[in-house]
Amino acid sequence: MSRQAPLVFIMAAGLGTRMKSETAKVLHKVAGRPMLHWVVTTARSAGASRVVAILGHQIEAVRTSLDASFGAGAVDIAQQAEQRGTGHAVQCALPSVANEPDDRIVVILTGDAPLLPAERISELVAAAAASPAGMALVSTVPDRPMPYGRLVRDDKGVLAKIVEHPDASPEQRLIKDTNAGFYAIRLGHLRSDLSKLSADNAKAELYLTDLVAHAYARGGATSIEAPFTEVTGINDRVDLAAVETAARKRINEGWMRAGVTMIDPASTYVDAEVGPLGKDVILGANVALRGKTTIGDGVQIDHGAVITDASIAAGTHIKPYSVVAESQIGERAQIGPFSHLRPGTRVDEDVHLGNFVETKKTHMMAGAKANHLAYLGDASVGAKCNIGAGVITCNYDGVGKYKTTIEAGAFVGSDSQLVAPVTIGRDAYVGSGTTVTKDVPRGALAITRVKQVNVEGWADRFREAQSKRKKPPEGG
Ligand code: UD1
Ligand code: CA
Repeated sequence: MSRQAPLVFIMAAGLGTRMKSETAKVLHKVAGRPMLHWVVTTARSAGASRVVAILGHQIEAVRTSLDASFGAGAVDIAQQAEQRGTGHAVQCALPSVANEPDDRIVVILTGDAPLLPAERISELVAAAAASPAGMALVSTVPDRPMPYGRLVRDDKGVLAKIVEHPDASPEQRLIKDTNAGFYAIRLGHLRSDLSKLSADNAKAELYLTDLVAHAYARGGATSIEAPFTEVTGINDRVDLAAVETAARKRINEGWMRAGVTMIDPASTYVDAEVGPLGKDVILGANVALRGKTTIGDGVQIDHGAVITDASIAAGTHIKPYSVVAESQIGERAQIGPFSHLRPGTRVDEDVHLGNFVETKKTHMMAGAKANHLAYLGDASVGAKCNIGAGVITCNYDGVGKYKTTIEAGAFVGSDSQLVAPVTIGRDAYVGSGTTVTKDVPRGALAITRVKQVNVEGWADRFREAQSKRKKPPEGG
């Protein structure tokens, strides 16, 4: 591990009162991914050799979520049982790096600011390494008044201290340059300066920002500026929505630059964990790609489709308003409009599933078709089968679920019910309107319809009799 690979601390112990939520603030999601996980992911892509999350409120829920996403123990946890300020939070993390040498650089991030890019962290680390004071921080000029710490400089422009908003004088509050809340500092300086913090301030907290005054004694910390959109923190659900919009824009622009067409990026929702998306993918308006979805080259997904945790292979066309979850779709398939593929659906190449077809735990093999109004549950449908309109697998008897096997080349006529467990043999036919309760042998015809009777002249006689019936009185 290179000396430049930073140790990363993420402060995330606060309560997040203003979210007014039962869920820990840092577990609220941005583009489908908890905001803390964004920060961990960014720290890792900036080459962090270790990530320590400083947790307090709802520590168990947050730990469980981190373990589930990154692997058990992959993110170290430091506990800050009582929240006595950001300086105190970082003190709580020091024991977890007790064996690290003083010249290592520590990056300190906050768990509620998910959009800081990895390049900015690298820039911050380089600035701290080059700084005689061994410290750098990110500054920003907010686009609206924010209660942020103000960067106070001496007459030579050297960063002298940060004054927190509640402690700032009216003149200091006019300073545009504010503290975004991200720092890099050599571990030796961090160790010695943290021990000197005092809570003699408006909030009676240990302010991490007081480290800047200590760095001034060594020549002054370096600041690097970042646009406000990169550093916006989330304190309430209005901030959450603003960050969500910014995240969506960033994700969508990334995919468009990688070769994805979006008809209306403002209404296209691609979660952070989605990908890869192939070349020449076309996404219509109001399409949502969620979870760990992957999409092959040339796939077209039309207006209003919602795809969750699914893989869709090259050349497939998902038509409007289809819903696909936890399913695998092969190449050149045609799905929808209005198809619903529920978990465990597997569709091989060249399959067609059409209007109002619902599938669950069903394997449609190559070239099989179910074009209209069918329910296929717990079924295996062989290659090139044709499933007629209104066919239903009766897979559930109120207690257990049973399997339907339809072998290759079989033709199931419209409005038939297949009462599972049952097998339709290879190349067999099921006549329309049949209720299949017994296995159908290979190549056979199964039919349960009663024989049709035609009664000559019946309709004419019926109408004649009707017309002679007494009409009810007018206005009655
Ligand atoms: C902090 C900075 C301020 C900066 C602003 C940018 C300090 C003293 N002030 O203020 O200069 O402009 O961020 O957003 O650092 N936390 C803990 N334990 C604690 C207190 C806080 O883990 O005891 C965590 C919070 O969960 C949060 C982060 O630290 O993720 C920042 O804390 P917060 O109270 O929001 O600081 P600000 O007042 O916003
Ligand atoms: Ca904050």
